[in-house]
Amino acid sequence: MLNIGLIGIGTVSAIHLYGYEQIPEVVKVVAVCDTNPEVAEMTAERLSARCYFDYQELLEDETVEVVDIMAPHYLHYPMTKDALQAGKHVLVEKPLATSSREARELIGLAEQVDLQLGVAENTPFVSAYQEAKRILQDKLLGEIHTVRTFIAGTEVARLSDRQLWKGDPYKAGGGVIMDAGPHSFFLLRWLFDPVSTVRAISPPSLPHHRVEDHALLSGSLVNGIHFSSELSFRAELPWTERLEIYGTNASLVIDQLANPPATIYRGEWDFDGTPLPGVSRRVDSWKIDSIARGVCNFMESISNHTDPVVRLDYCLHVVEVVEKAYASLQQSSTALSV
Ligand SMILES: NC(=O)c1ccc[n+]([C@@H]2O[C@H](COP(=O)([O-])OP(=O)(O)OC[C@H]3O[C@@H](n4cnc5c(N)ncnc54)[C@H](O)[C@@H]3O)[C@@H](O)[C@H]2O)c1
Repeated sequence: MLNIGLIGIGTVSAIHLYGYEQIPEVVKVVAVCDTNPEVAEMTAERLSARCYFDYQELLEDETVEVVDIMAPHYLHYPMTKDALQAGKHVLVEKPLATSSREARELIGLAEQVDLQLGVAENTPFVSAYQEAKRILQDKLLGEIHTVRTFIAGTEVARLSDRQLWKGDPYKAGGGVIMDAGPHSFFLLRWLFDPVSTVRAISPPSLPHHRVEDHALLSGSLVNGIHFSSELSFRAELPWTERLEIYGTNASLVIDQLANPPATIYRGEWDFDGTPLPGVSRRVDSWKIDSIARGVCNFMESISNHTDPVVRLDYCLHVVEVVEKAYASLQQSSTALSV
């Protein structure tokens, strides 16, 4: 049984807790921390856990073995570093850090102190993407030449609220590229290869937004595949993701809002395509379930001494791509090598 301490009891914490409920024989939440005392106290009472308002105090709690960090982006690096130095295993929400220098340092530190560090990246736990990986391994699509990803939903309310970290360029480390980009870049790395070049375009954000709320990224992967990723925080629809993979034999289109959500098309006359078996439409739960499965996978990997599905070198690469995308924006959308 692993004793967990939660830091940051906001929106995503309910999903991590939902995950932990599925594996009561592996984990127990023994401590919670949030700077918002009301939230911290309510959660602590509900879970019969100890309550802290300062994360350093939670790190001093000797019963806590694993820390689950769900705080704003600018706190990922200092909190993870302090937790590792306090002798705790760490699961941190994406992105691992807001700069590649910090991400590299954290990975080095975890190795040095011989503790597990993981990122709560849910992408490889989305069933449609797991099926896509299987189809690619079986080479059903032929040689892949083009890949498109799309992530969209609305964060207009949170980006507009000056009290919240989400729309603050320092606390969030950026806008939609820093926040949603990691999912697309992880997907490209996990299914294919590292990104080799990237250029970024961002249309003007809504007037009251201080970070970019829409971006289009394109470039190539190391194996020559052309990719593009569009990310939007101002799309008024249920949170969705889309993945299109184009090969010499066939194409795969995944769209969480479509019915069916994953279809293979074989050429220009294949109007209906063939739905991917094993992928059902779950507009309201595909994301929640994948996040929950991801946090469970990390905790089980500590418990079973196995490697977690989410590789840290991929998470570092993701931060490198994010960094280069911002550099491209600053250099008039020039294509840059990663
Ligand atoms: N995998 C996903 O799809 C997904 C979805 C949502 C959020 N996230 C990630 O989860 C993280 C949190 O996002 P959220 O939407 O839950 O944010 P949120 O604003 O809802 O919650 C953050 C919480 O952290 C607390 N906090 C702030 N500073 C703190 C400090 N110094 N010590 C302790 N607590 C502190 C806040 O009071 C708040 O309760 C982010 O990294 C975000 O990118 C990932």
